[in-house]
Amino acid sequence: MKAIRYHDHGDADVLTVDDVPTPEPGADEVLVRIHAASVNPIDTYVRDGGVEPAGGLPHVGGADMAGVVEAVGSGVEGFAVGDRVFATGLGLFEAGTYAEYVAAPAESLATLPDEVSFAEGAAAAMAFATAWRGLIDRGELDIGDACVVQGGTGGVGHAAVQIAAQAGATVVATASGDEAFVRDLGAADVVDYGADDVVDRIREAAGGDVDVVLETHAAANVATDLDVLTRGGRIVVLGEEAPIRIDPGASMTGKITDADLRFMSIMASRDDQVPILERVGPRLADGRFEVEIEATYPLEEAAEAQRHVMSSGSRGKVVLEVA
Ligand SMILES: NC(=O)c1ccc[n+]([C@@H]2O[C@H](COP(=O)([O-])OP(=O)(O)OC[C@H]3O[C@@H](n4cnc5c(N)ncnc54)[C@H](OP(=O)(O)O)[C@@H]3O)[C@@H](O)[C@H]2O)c1
Repeated sequence: MKAIRYHDHGDADVLTVDDVPTPEPGADEVLVRIHAASVNPIDTYVRDGGVEPAGGLPHVGGADMAGVVEAVGSGVEGFAVGDRVFATGLGLFEAGTYAEYVAAPAESLATLPDEVSFAEGAAAAMAFATAWRGLIDRGELDIGDACVVQGGTGGVGHAAVQIAAQAGATVVATASGDEAFVRDLGAADVVDYGADDVVDRIREAAGGDVDVVLETHAAANVATDLDVLTRGGRIVVLGEEAPIRIDPGASMTGKITDADLRFMSIMASRDDQVPILERVGPRLADGRFEVEIEATYPLEEAAEAQRHVMSSGSRGKVVLEVA
């Protein structure tokens, strides 16, 4: 089969199109014929060497996919040849999804409804699972809460705006552009994250202090988040490749009052992923959720697709068409 691998860590140029044996599913695995994969920032962090994939190099990158079951391992129940499935969180503990086939743990797979295209399924998987887990499970978002989504135009951000709005929160999103796109997803207001008066503008838009922040760029924004947070509010940090600086002295002066900084990983929370994806699928099918696909590339152009994702000004998701 064709697979996009890297033999050394480095920038997108290390990605190569290789012919490799089609994997055999283990007892607890399902062989999936991949129709679409999507591209996430984590794919580039693993490629860079910031995170070491289990199994070492060479490595097939990619965490998200949608496709059709081709074969099932001897111990697998609940999946049959021909089933449509989607998944996220692959490509760190096993081979990834930039390939024609993947042998995926059965416990990582969710059913992809017939109404949802493979491209939509692959695009939605990590974005919606991360946003859902971040807001609802880690952020404990409640009806009537005020919520900030930092980076509302991005893959996770545009999913988060929809989830938070449908959960009954007042959503203030930040973005560097395309306000109309984010408002149409359900944001009550959109604030430029680079504005000098970003704290005042978030408070004004939220009608006061904020209960939950979903933070996609903590290194840049955590001071703002702490400033706008209500007492006992939650900041859910999604992680990026930069350290964050916090002044703990502010916790003694009343500026930061019982602020709760929480972290999460969708890659390392397989138990939580599938129940979320099983609820995301039907919502994509009936139109309650929409996944924005900004660009599609053929599998062979994975390097270009990764450059696209890491460029500024993109909106929604980038998808690799595999078959
Ligand atoms: N913990 C987890 O399990 C998990 C899972 C998925 C993603 N993540 C992390 O979450 C982040 C977002 O992922 P993604 O897939 O949504 O990426 P993405 O599609 O590339 O979106 C990034 C978004 O962030 C915006 N942005 C850039 N600088 C910003 C700033 N200083 N403040 C606020 N927003 C800013 C961008 O807007 P402009 O382009 O307009 O600047 C863009 O909308 C990444 O750091 C990723 O690693 C974590």
